[in-house]
Amino acid sequence: MKFALDTTPVTELQTACLVIGIFEQAPLEGSAKLIDEASNGALQELIQSGDVDSDWKSTTMLHGLDGVCAKRILVMGFGEAEKFSPVRYDEVCKSAGKYLRDHATTSAHICLNEIVSGNMDPHWLLRQAAVSIDWANYLYTATKAPKKDDNQPLISATFAGGNDRQAALDEARGFARGYQRSRALGDLPPNICTPAYLAEIAKEIVSDYENTSIEILEQEEMEVLKMSALLAVGRGSANKPRLIILKYDGKKDDSQPIVLVGKGITFDTGGISLKPGPNMEQMKFDMGGAASVIGAFEACADMQLPINLICVVAAAENMPDGNAYRPGDVLTSMSGKTIEIFNTDAEGRLVLCDALTYSERFKPAALINVATLTGACVIALGQHASAIMSLHDDLAEELIKAGQEAIDRGWRLPLWEDYQSQLKSTFADMKNVGGMAAGSITAGCFLSRFTKGQRWAHIDCAGSTWVWGGDKGSTGRPVGLLTQYLVNQAA
Ligand code: BES
Ligand code: MN
Ligand code: ZN
Repeated sequence: MKFALDTTPVTELQTACLVIGIFEQAPLEGSAKLIDEASNGALQELIQSGDVDSDWKSTTMLHGLDGVCAKRILVMGFGEAEKFSPVRYDEVCKSAGKYLRDHATTSAHICLNEIVSGNMDPHWLLRQAAVSIDWANYLYTATKAPKKDDNQPLISATFAGGNDRQAALDEARGFARGYQRSRALGDLPPNICTPAYLAEIAKEIVSDYENTSIEILEQEEMEVLKMSALLAVGRGSANKPRLIILKYDGKKDDSQPIVLVGKGITFDTGGISLKPGPNMEQMKFDMGGAASVIGAFEACADMQLPINLICVVAAAENMPDGNAYRPGDVLTSMSGKTIEIFNTDAEGRLVLCDALTYSERFKPAALINVATLTGACVIALGQHASAIMSLHDDLAEELIKAGQEAIDRGWRLPLWEDYQSQLKSTFADMKNVGGMAAGSITAGCFLSRFTKGQRWAHIDCAGSTWVWGGDKGSTGRPVGLLTQYLVNQAA
């Protein structure tokens, strides 16, 4: 979607649709007030008569209001002013975006960011409106033609604001591209989105942006590095694993990079510990961590942030096969630590442990892995938050703050030593599962053993990156959290 600013008086704007917001039982503000005045109080009358709703997230389309050039006005309800918050604002923006997409509106002028109630930062209001309206206009078309008469995403959106707000729009474009990339990858079927395909997309991104480079390791190179845990997971599949290393040098010095590591299981059957049939088709989502790391990389490169960033994607497919790894196997990871396999469905931590060991060579300022690691995370936090685990309070807090700012929230779980004993093994340094209790935390504990001495955090996005059932599909999360973290580090 194209973003631009427009300072034309709202009543004179030539646009397919104006989007304004109103609070419940409160005087009209900004554009809503100007439109009401130009139409001799028509808007106020429609509100009074109940024809225009001001409930939170409600939508009313008005046609041909006197004194206003735009033919259509979409009135969004902000709800009660006292309850208003950044999260509620973001939800209104998403609802507006979705309404426009579902009503085949291909261009619009957005005034939602003008609100003054709630004392929110104007830069943030504008950026978030653009990001969320773009997010809501995502449409999957890779393997399916869109329906003719509806579901036409916005092609361009203008926003209330002058040139001094250009920085907010530039930032929005970065976030938006990151989200779109992550969702497009997450939604692709697993016969298309293989480890090799992820590598090809990463190459394309690098060819599109300055200051970027890429290295792709194939099986033979990973064998030389002794990445036996990662390789074991991929062994049952005809689609061979890849380790994708994306580099962005925005700082032009050798200051320590931020390193993001993504779990890229392009399909998770569970392997020999086969998953049940129902919902297995959704296990293509299991590269959501990788997709969001790639999306955040693209966002960072698009904004040309003054930081050094490295993204490592551990891509493999977990399949049962005559050559597949099995329960009972003991693997020697790249770190030298041995792992007894209890369940081949706990494969994410195995590809990640080698990718994390590999990442040590970059001497990261912060090492953050992102993964759809545990079903237990979906049980604990649902779709509303990613789980954040870290032994470094400052890093955990930076990530939580970034999530709040981007309305892509995370919530911390503890990594106390108390949980470590659940990983004890008779035949190896550890087993790959920690039992029923605290499944997300014991997965985090497993990873912590491969990041000793690193400033490391683990983000479990199993609930946040995908909408399960019903209106299923990728959300692109936690691209927003990661990108905001990078923006904050650049500041
Ligand atoms: N990718 C899954 C996690 C997952 C499963 C997330 C279902 C969301 C919904 C991961 O590889 C996995 O299968 N984890 C197992 C671990 C268990 C065997 C210790 C799980 O969570 O059941
Ligand atoms: Mn699994
Ligand atoms: Zn998995």
